[in-house]
Amino acid sequence: MTPSASALLDWYAHQRRVLPWRALPGQVADPYAVWLSEIMLQQTTVTTVMPYYERFLKCYPTVQVLAAAPQQEVLALWAGLGYYSRARNLHACAQKLAQLGGFPSDVEGLQALPGIGAYTARAIAAIAFGVPVVPVDGNVERITSRLHAIEEPLPAARRQLDRLATLLNDDPQAREAPSDFAQALFDLGAGLCTPRRPSCLMCPWRATCKAYATGAPQRFPVRAPRKTKPERYGVVFVTSDRQGAIWLRQRPEKGLLGGMTELPGSAWLDSALSLPEMLQEAPVEAAWKEAGQIRHVFTHFTLQLRVMVARLADFAALHNQPGFACPPERVAHQALPSVMQKCLTLAGVASVD
Ligand code: ADE
Repeated sequence: MTPSASALLDWYAHQRRVLPWRALPGQVADPYAVWLSEIMLQQTTVTTVMPYYERFLKCYPTVQVLAAAPQQEVLALWAGLGYYSRARNLHACAQKLAQLGGFPSDVEGLQALPGIGAYTARAIAAIAFGVPVVPVDGNVERITSRLHAIEEPLPAARRQLDRLATLLNDDPQAREAPSDFAQALFDLGAGLCTPRRPSCLMCPWRATCKAYATGAPQRFPVRAPRKTKPERYGVVFVTSDRQGAIWLRQRPEKGLLGGMTELPGSAWLDSALSLPEMLQEAPVEAAWKEAGQIRHVFTHFTLQLRVMVARLADFAALHNQPGFACPPERVAHQALPSVMQKCLTLAGVASVD
């Protein structure tokens, strides 16, 4: 049975979250704000996104301003949010939108843009343009898997959940208010139908929820057992000169952390390096001391990096190495991903202003 859209919309009318990218009741959403927030919210929580969103909007109040910004500046503003291809695509998409003169207002047109996949296209179309589609993110998958008590585990169940979520639109009330309906689903997932301890007694859809009827709604969505993440190992080198400048370099455009700034160091390998092997990777001969080691969890592996530090009088010996001397007051403005910020903090370099 299709749960009642009007029950959810009534709940949303009273319980909706106030979010900076969200239009107030009766107002029309700004596609730029919706697009920016949707890209940031992929794999990232609302709490983490909030300050980044505010900063982006302040620096880049329109698509045109974002399109005209240098890529390194955009990456620097994104630093710490992770999944950096999102920032590169965001910038490329802004340039495309500036050319087009605005946002396409249908799912196909949106999905043809850089960095906009099936979910994001539907989210923007529903929220900003009132297109009656259901965007299926993790929240909506969870809600749908519970409504139907789907035993097939994720990720295999994804197609089935997508199909079932689309059926929520069979209720004409859902199709009449696509923007509110999509956002009501997000709020239901974030506020009541939470992963571990769903608050079923307050849920407007409790009566039609099969997972609730089983008495163990938190068991859904069922997930295939996770594979253990492989470990990788490497070393980075923090060299500072008399002025406290640090030697940094830019990662290649393609691949993990593409285009971001990093400390010089080794490749990330399947086994740990011995001390002599580590020292062979140093960008310059110096009295290297180990500051310690950091651990960083990426989506597909966990990285352990040893952090070596040395002071030099100047960077003359580094001049034929790739990279640049970054004065201390500029460190916070670099596109340093969290893994590199951790290394700098361990080495005693403040990387956040
Ligand atoms: N998660 C994904 N998109 C969202 C949105 N627009 N509001 C709140 N949470 C979300």
